[in-house]
Amino acid sequence: MFSKEIYMARRAELCRRVGKGLILLPGNVESPLNYPNNTYHFRQDSTFLYFFGHNVPALVGVIDAETGVATLYGDDFTVDDIIWMGPQPTIADFAEQVGAECSKPMAQLQCDIAAAIIKGREVHYLPPYRGETKLMMSDLLGITPSMLHARKSVDLLFAVAEMREKKSAEEIAALEEAFEIGYQMHTTAMLNTRVGRSEHEVAGMVDGMALRYGTGTSFTTILSQHGEVLHNHDHSGIMESGRLLLCDAGGEHMNGYVSDHTRTFPVNGKFTQKQKDVYNIVLAAHDAAAEALRPGMMYSELSDVASRTLLEGLKGLDLVRGSVEDAMAAGAAYLFMPHGLGHGIGLDVHDCENIGERSFSFEPLAERAKASACCITRQWWRLMPGTVLSDEPGIYFVPALIDKMESEGKYKGIVNYEKLKEYRDFGGIRLEDDLIVTETGCKIIGDKTIPITVEDVEAMVGKA
Ligand code: GLY
Ligand code: MN
Ligand code: MN
Repeated sequence: MFSKEIYMARRAELCRRVGKGLILLPGNVESPLNYPNNTYHFRQDSTFLYFFGHNVPALVGVIDAETGVATLYGDDFTVDDIIWMGPQPTIADFAEQVGAECSKPMAQLQCDIAAAIIKGREVHYLPPYRGETKLMMSDLLGITPSMLHARKSVDLLFAVAEMREKKSAEEIAALEEAFEIGYQMHTTAMLNTRVGRSEHEVAGMVDGMALRYGTGTSFTTILSQHGEVLHNHDHSGIMESGRLLLCDAGGEHMNGYVSDHTRTFPVNGKFTQKQKDVYNIVLAAHDAAAEALRPGMMYSELSDVASRTLLEGLKGLDLVRGSVEDAMAAGAAYLFMPHGLGHGIGLDVHDCENIGERSFSFEPLAERAKASACCITRQWWRLMPGTVLSDEPGIYFVPALIDKMESEGKYKGIVNYEKLKEYRDFGGIRLEDDLIVTETGCKIIGDKTIPITVEDVEAMVGKA
């Protein structure tokens, strides 16, 4: 946790931005795995963490936007709880630690929210993404769960996203610590990869490092020789000589900040020429984006830098023909990289995605999203000093996608479908680092590099 002054200043700024009404920020509750007392690993809601700091289940924060008074709701532990969980701070202690002016039992929350609604005050909340939270909010607000999304607070949503977008010095320090976990995870994967070993075994080692140095992984580890399957959580393969292994994994530091990196490397420790050729194109796109990034640039411009570099490289392999500009105009990069160049990173591995473009359509909010220019809508995302984002270009050969595009006559005269036949069983390559935008350009987070050049990767793979 940061000092209480940081949380107090954040809440004051939030009040300034929202202006009126009550701001309701529910923390997460424990989520049962198969019976109530056997729960999934607890993960606090990131917005609650940002304003109230505590990684503790079953707390709710309410801020009066007009008076600035923050109240932390929760129930003190009983002796019965303490028998199972040991001595715990009181809710008053928790409130004091983050500078919240009041603390109250959870039963009081319903009365306080009802009183505000009766007075005609607006209750601002973000669209809830967990079943348990939806039910609680539905009870509190007296509306059905299906109505919650429509009544979310757009003012709160933009205020939170804009504040979380710009990372402060202490947040950047926290992200640097999260990098260290990622470094350990990825070098463990490289060092321990070898022919005949199961993907499971290496994935287990990778996840173990996340637990050893932090609270666990920041998302479910992707580790597979089928790198062309973008979010492949199947680790059932046995590592084969001649294949590439893609590892996309990140760790979460005790403070909640996360890392997200991808490396792709040869199982037997030596790239073939064909693999090296494709790998170096992806690396060139990764480097070109990091080199081109300037404060004030639009995310889409950065994305175009990477796409252009990929297409130039693919032209060199005769997989793309004609001018790169024609290929760009036709959107041909999509066939090889059917995902965006990156996403925001912070307390969430896809920062603020619970309130972003993937959680609902921003079309009715287009003008506001344009003016806001933060990561919740990548179409209008302007990269400013303090923005943190992933840089993760890739080249994937997805037979189903290739066949679909060819059968629809897409990219005719641009994509060389005949030549592409030689790559159908190639798999996929992605390379990912986390960038922080500075006053003059950007910095790759971390004080060292997870091996990324062909030489450095070959020097590490299988050397445990
Ligand atoms: N962790 C999945 C991604 O890179 O977005
Ligand atoms: Mn990733
Ligand atoms: Mn990512």
